[in-house]
Amino acid sequence: MEPANQLHVPIRTIMTPGPVEVDPRVLQAMSSSILGQFDPNFTSIMNETMVLLRRVLETENHWAFPVDGTSRAGIEAMLCSVIEEGDKVLIPSFGRFGGLLTEIAERCGADVYVTHCEWGQVFEPQDVIKQLKKIQPKVLAMVHGDTSTGRMQPLEEIGNACRELDVIFVVDAVATVAGTPVKTDEWKIDGLITGTQKCLSVPAGMAPLTYNHRIEEILQERKSIERGLNSEKHRSSRRIRSNYFDLSQLQDYWSPTRLNHHTEATTMLYGLYEGLRLILEEGLEQRFQRHRLNEKALVAGVQAMGLSLFGNEQWKLPTVTCVRIPEGVDGDSVRAMLLNEFAIEIASSFGSLHGKIWRIGTMGYSCQKRNVLLTLAGLEAVLIRHKVNIHSGEAVQAALDVYQNKSLAV
Ligand SMILES: Cc1ncc(COP(=O)(O)O)c(C=O)c1O
Repeated sequence: MEPANQLHVPIRTIMTPGPVEVDPRVLQAMSSSILGQFDPNFTSIMNETMVLLRRVLETENHWAFPVDGTSRAGIEAMLCSVIEEGDKVLIPSFGRFGGLLTEIAERCGADVYVTHCEWGQVFEPQDVIKQLKKIQPKVLAMVHGDTSTGRMQPLEEIGNACRELDVIFVVDAVATVAGTPVKTDEWKIDGLITGTQKCLSVPAGMAPLTYNHRIEEILQERKSIERGLNSEKHRSSRRIRSNYFDLSQLQDYWSPTRLNHHTEATTMLYGLYEGLRLILEEGLEQRFQRHRLNEKALVAGVQAMGLSLFGNEQWKLPTVTCVRIPEGVDGDSVRAMLLNEFAIEIASSFGSLHGKIWRIGTMGYSCQKRNVLLTLAGLEAVLIRHKVNIHSGEAVQAALDVYQNKSLAV
């Protein structure tokens, strides 16, 4: 048998809503040597990662650690640890990832109540609060920034209402943490999940999450320690159905008890640690400003070209820009040419939006002036090749105007 070809990975400019480019310091950290999972050097990296995560997630919660697996692993861990068969769960859904929350909550056996709003819009918080009062769920699960529609839901009012009504508030902040403010404690979010491959700018493979004492109480009631590890003391009849995603056991693994569970993903943890350090070195506020500036430059360029944006402008997700594909243009052909000729990747969307919009991400390490200017120049050239009637020569100039007069942007 012929040996396989040597791995050849081309260099790309990645302007999708994830995975995004990674700072070389993260890649370097990930090539450090392997440590045993109970080596004190490794456990101290675990502890320090928890400290860094609390700061990035803007929380005083004790529990803040990553679940191994992509972002949905974190969502599944949170929901299956909190929801029991028959629990009422309300999910106001404004895009594909509200659908993911619904899918997971249903599989947990919840009695799921879904409300929808038109894609491109978000919910009026008072409408969600009315639903909360009517349905009286145990859990309200919502997406903060839905990358499928490029919208961001305001959460603070909803969080306050959840606390008053004693509802557990779980938020998917996969697309927003470290790109735009996410105030876990201030917005009274009980359980929050993010992912590594978006604004954290670390490869896909971990889902950092945090939860407060309200969720911890539920976990304690449901706690069941795996056979063969400990005495039979901890056996709850309400045991969490998943072993891998059992937060009650995971939290023991992340505590000084170091109760054995899975084998931690060593090099992913190194990458996350370095990614978090980079975020805090830059400073959260500066990082949000960088994201806003590059978003504004991108939007100015796209509009100067004569293209229009999709969705309610007021609730635009700053880390994703949705561009309407002009009538009669093959959106996938434009994306393919951009990739093949310019090595730039942008995304399409899902469901009813597929073929209707392109989604351009400005996240993490990918969110830089050079990438925005290259993307605008490349997109313009490719659209001209596709015989689209655009205002040529204007996109990059409009973006440069934003960069040169930063006050316009923030
Ligand atoms: C808002 C949101 N939630 C959840 C997910 C699922 O993430 P993953 O693919 O990392 O499991 C994504 C992925 O794009 C997302 O954008």
